[in-house]
Amino acid sequence: MFKELLPLWIKNLEKSGVQKALETTANPDIISFSLGRPDNNLLRLPELKDCYEELFSPHNLQYSPPSYELKAHIAEFMKEKQVVCTPKEILLTTGAQQAMTLLTKLFANEGADILVDQLTYPGFIQVAQAMHLNLIPSPLCFQSGLHMKELRQILEKNTRPSLMYTISEGHNPLGTSLSKKQRIELTTLAKQYKIPIIEDDAYGFLNYDPVDPPLKSFWKEGVFYIGSFSKILAPSLRTGWIIASEPIIEKLEILKEGLDINTSSFSQKLITSYFEKDILTERILKLRGTYKEKRDVMVYSLHKYIPEMEFTIPKSGFFIWGKLPPSINTKRLFKFALEEEKVSFIPGNAFLVGERDDVQSCLRLSFAFCPIELIELGIKRLALAIQDYKWQNEDQYLRLA
Ligand SMILES: Cc1ncc(COP(=O)(O)O)c(C=O)c1O
Repeated sequence: MFKELLPLWIKNLEKSGVQKALETTANPDIISFSLGRPDNNLLRLPELKDCYEELFSPHNLQYSPPSYELKAHIAEFMKEKQVVCTPKEILLTTGAQQAMTLLTKLFANEGADILVDQLTYPGFIQVAQAMHLNLIPSPLCFQSGLHMKELRQILEKNTRPSLMYTISEGHNPLGTSLSKKQRIELTTLAKQYKIPIIEDDAYGFLNYDPVDPPLKSFWKEGVFYIGSFSKILAPSLRTGWIIASEPIIEKLEILKEGLDINTSSFSQKLITSYFEKDILTERILKLRGTYKEKRDVMVYSLHKYIPEMEFTIPKSGFFIWGKLPPSINTKRLFKFALEEEKVSFIPGNAFLVGERDDVQSCLRLSFAFCPIELIELGIKRLALAIQDYKWQNEDQYLRLA
C-alpha cells in the first residue's frame, strides 16, 4: 500500500548480483562455490562448553558499554600484524559491515566522489548506494590487485575523492594480497592527496602463505583499519572493530549509537573468553590449516579439469578469481552450471564497479564453505558445464575463440 510513497532511489534498489546468485543455490544437491561463508564444521565452539552458565549471565544479556577488556585483547592481537594501537583507539562494531558504514558516513557527504576497487565486495557498494556516492573505480590487475600507475593518473585528473575503500589482503573477489611495494606506494599517494583509506581486512588473519603488514602499519594517521571476528570465530557474533585515533573514535561512537546502541554484550563476552583462555591463536592455526588444504584441492582440480582457466593462487582469504577464454560469458555459463551440472559460482560482473569488458568471462570461486571431499567433484562438474556451454554456443565460440 505504501510502496508508491517510497523515495525514487529506494524504488530502484535491487538486490546485489551476489544475493541473487546465492538465492539460486539453496538446493542441497548443488555444490556451492558461491558462498563466501566459513566452513560449517569450523563453526563449532566446543572450547566454551564449560562457560555457558557464565556466558548467559544477566550481565551479558544486558545493554552494556563496549568491553575495555576486549579492546585491550584486540590491541595485543594486532601486534602480530605490526599494527600498534591502544584500547582507546579501538571501536567495537557490529561486524565489518557496520564498520565500513560508519567510516563512510564519517568521511563522505552525500553525493561525494569516492575511490573503490574496480571489483569489490558488494556489501560496500550497497553502503555507497544508500549515501548516493559517486564511485570512481580504482584500476585493478587480476593477478596483483591495485594498479598504482593508473591510480596515480586518475588522482592527477580528478578532484580529491573523499575516501578510498580497499581490501589489501585476501581480496574479495580477486583473492589478491598487495605487495609491500604496492602498500608503500598506495599509502604515500594517499598521504600526498590527503585521502583517508578504509582498509577492510575481513580475511586478514586467514593467510596460508607469508603476507605483508596491513596498510595501517604504513600510514597510521590516514588508514582506518577494519577487522572482523566473522571468519575467525563466527559470523553470527556480528562483531568487528575499527582502529583509528581517539578523536575519530569519539565521533564514530556517536554515529554508532544512533544505529544499534551497542555491539552485542553477549558476543563481546564470548570473544573475550577466547582471549582469556588463550585459545584464539590455536583456533586460527587450525583454520589456516583447513582452508589451505581446501585451497590446494581446488587449485589441483582446476589445473586438472579446466586448464584453460587463468588464475592466481591466493595467499589469504576464501576466493579464487578465474578467467576463462573471452568467448565464455560467465553470466550465461552460470545457468548451465546450475541447471545442468548442479554447481554454482558467482559471475565476475556481480562485483564490478563501472565498465570493464574482460570481466564478463571471469568468475569467483570460494573454496571455504564446500566440504573438502566435494571440491574436486564440483570442479569436474564446472568443467562439464563449460563443455555444455561451448556445444550450445558452438557457432559463436568458433568465431571468438
Ligand atoms: C570484504 C568483506 N568485508 C566485510 C564483510 C562482512 O563482514 P562482517 O561479517 O564482519 O560484517 C565480508 C563478508 O563476506 C567481506 O567479504
